[in-house]
Amino acid sequence: MKLKIAVLPGDGIGPEIVAQALKVTQAVCKQFGHELSYQEALVGACAIDSVGDPYPAETHALCMDADAVLFGAIGSPKYDNDPSARIRPEQGLLAMRKQLGLYANIRPITTFPSLLHQSPLRADLVEGADFMCIRELTGGIYFGRPQGRSEDGAIAYDTCVYSVEEIERIVRLAYSCALKRRKKLTIIDKANVLSTSRLWRQVSQRLEKEYPEVETEYMFVDNAAMQIVQRPKHFDVMVTENMFGDILTDEASVITGSLGMLPSASIGIHTSVFEPIHGSYPQAAGKNSANPLATILSAALMFEYAFDLKEEGKRVREAVAASLSAKIVTADIAGSGKVYTTSEVGAWITDYIR
Ligand code: IPM
Ligand code: MN
Repeated sequence: MKLKIAVLPGDGIGPEIVAQALKVTQAVCKQFGHELSYQEALVGACAIDSVGDPYPAETHALCMDADAVLFGAIGSPKYDNDPSARIRPEQGLLAMRKQLGLYANIRPITTFPSLLHQSPLRADLVEGADFMCIRELTGGIYFGRPQGRSEDGAIAYDTCVYSVEEIERIVRLAYSCALKRRKKLTIIDKANVLSTSRLWRQVSQRLEKEYPEVETEYMFVDNAAMQIVQRPKHFDVMVTENMFGDILTDEASVITGSLGMLPSASIGIHTSVFEPIHGSYPQAAGKNSANPLATILSAALMFEYAFDLKEEGKRVREAVAASLSAKIVTADIAGSGKVYTTSEVGAWITDYIR
């Protein structure tokens, strides 16, 4: 099969971790006889610095033309520490999501037996936890207008907006995922306070009737935040709006032992994007120390979701599990054991696949 991908390393540790995921992707393609072609493009702070736009038209054209996008991370302290900057790296990621129509962000949370002791949660709580968070990605407070400041700068505002159509398509997608898993869906909102959440609940209650095989449960987001760490095994598929999903999945990553472990697939209307859920970790940029596994596991999702190549995805996951068992790991999960570099972990996994 011919696989044409766009590679967007972005900022901070992005280039280092994407390089490992690309090595792994190449190894898998070689093993399974696929023809891989890829092209790199700019996104984020590096794109602002070189062309003044965090998501240049050229990058968008490349993404539209590709079968899948492998994405690193964006963000830079230069902008984080300057709230008055008008052009920001994050706008690049948001523009990409919007322009590619990526309304669903799928974040699987799975545990690895060899990492159980790394979780700050008790091993008996974590062992066997396996759920999927489906985060709405192109609506809500991230995109709602108006957004801005009053003229005198004394007031700032963001607006949370959702339409029936936006809610319906993401909740249906969540039901279709639940049907392929343990048939349990938790719909997370703040319907006791927010009008958009009440619309979510209303639409969901209508759809619920169409999926009688699935057990539907509604949960307020504050309660969900607690349940995720108190009884993570309770969940199968959860679906929620953009910002709740952003926050809950960072929280959920502690279950696995490190934020550096969680991959994601963003799917929707045009080309799908595969990216780790963590950020650009600027403190570690260029140090060859960051955990590449979230990005490597995102490549596994790419094989499965973009190309329907299940065996290939499985091979990547097996190789990652093997590297964890062999304790070939970066500092974030090494504990008191030996610490390997980003590229050593990538090379070990690549060799394993070969
Ligand atoms: C994520 C990130 C982004 C988000 C940022 C970098 C804009 O935190 O993908 O979770 O908030 O969506
Ligand atoms: Mn986030």
